[in-house]
Parts: sequence; C-alpha cells; structure tokens
Amino acid sequence: MPKIAIVYYSGFGHTKAVAEHVQKGAASIAGIDAVLISADDLPEADADRNLGGRWNELSEADAIVFGAPTYMGSMAAGLKRVFETASAVWFQQGWKDKIAAGFTNGGSTSGDKVNTLQDIWHNCMQHGMVWVGVGDLSNGNTPESINRMGSFSGAMAQSDNASPEETPPAGDRETAERFGARIAEAVVRWSA
Ligand SMILES: Cc1cc2nc3c(=O)[nH]c(=O)nc-3n(C[C@H](O)[C@H](O)[C@H](O)COP(=O)(O)O)c2cc1C
Repeated sequence: MPKIAIVYYSGFGHTKAVAEHVQKGAASIAGIDAVLISADDLPEADADRNLGGRWNELSEADAIVFGAPTYMGSMAAGLKRVFETASAVWFQQGWKDKIAAGFTNGGSTSGDKVNTLQDIWHNCMQHGMVWVGVGDLSNGNTPESINRMGSFSGAMAQSDNASPEETPPAGDRETAERFGARIAEAVVRWSA
C-alpha cells in the first residue's frame, strides 16, 4: 500500500491541525496509508550515525510532506533541525524520487510564508524528490475560501491568536485536505 508520511513541527498546535487535515485528505484516496510524524519523533543521529525514532518510516514512504509554522519569516527551527539531520540521508540520496510537498502556517496572510515553502522546496530538491504543488485556484479571500492566500508552491494557512480548535479557519483546513488528496493522487500515479 503506498504510504505518505506527513512530517510536521508545531510550537502551539496550529500547524499540527493543518497537518491533520493534510492527512485526512491523503487518507481519503483509496489504497493510501497516510501517517503523521511529529518532528519530535525524528531524533538526532546516534554516535554511530544511525537514525532512530520514526526515521525508518520516512525511508519506507512513497511521499513525504513537510509542514512548519513560519517563524521570523522562515521555517521554524523544529523542522529545520529535521532537514539538517536528514543530511545523513542526503549522502545516500535515500529519498530520491519520492514525492514531496510542503505547507506552512503563520499569523499573517503574508508574513513572508512563501520563504518557508521555498526553504522546504530547496531541501526536497537537494534530496532529488519530485515536488507536488497545490493545484487549486483561489475562489475568494474569505476564511471559508479555498486557497484564499493564492499559494501554489505549497499550502498556506493563517491562524489568529486563538486556540487550534478555533483557528486556522475552515477554508484553510479544506485547502489542506484538498492538498493532501492531490498528493495522494500523485502518489498513486507515480507508483503505478
Ligand atoms: C517566534 C515567532 C515568530 C513568528 N514569526 C512569524 C512570521 O514571520 N510570519 C507569520 O506570518 N507569523 C509568524 N508567527 C506567528 C506563527 O506563525 C503563528 O502563531 C502560527 O499559528 C504558529 O503555529 P504553531 O501553533 O504550529 O506553532 C511567529 C510566531 C512566533 C512564536
């Protein structure tokens, strides 16, 4: 069964909520196994340079989707650490030809979030992965709209200063689900 791993870092739970919707969308496609993996479950390499925790699930996956909040105009350090640890995988090109995609979440509708997506993209390109973008036109800029921020390279969400149960809004959650489904459809075609 094709497997999609959704790797996320979330300081306060909002990006985790987005990740859960990406997973829901991916799992909605028949035959897809979609798992959530917190950055906290991807530890540093040990003294023998072995990667423990849930790193083996990334080796097995057909696709890896990376998500992080935007902090100070760039990828939050929790996910950046994962990518730096993954340099051990890069040496072997262990993720080459896996499908890749990215998402981010911030307090602002802009907030320089595109820089986070570009940073995720650069990392995935260094690994020789195959990038999948959003593929949805924006249908408005209300909290209920699909792709309200008009982001095509990866999915964006915006969260207010409230609990993850309240924010990001429904449209961003639906955008994340549609994004997850699109990635899963790409995996099905790529694996065929
Ligand atoms: C240290 C820090 C820096 C931030 N910088 C930005 C930023 O540059 N752009 C933005 O849109 N939001 C920024 N925010 C807001 C967060 O991205 C926002 O609160 C987000 O929902 C946090 O997601 P999380 O709950 O998954 O950590 C920042 C928040 C923190 C704590």
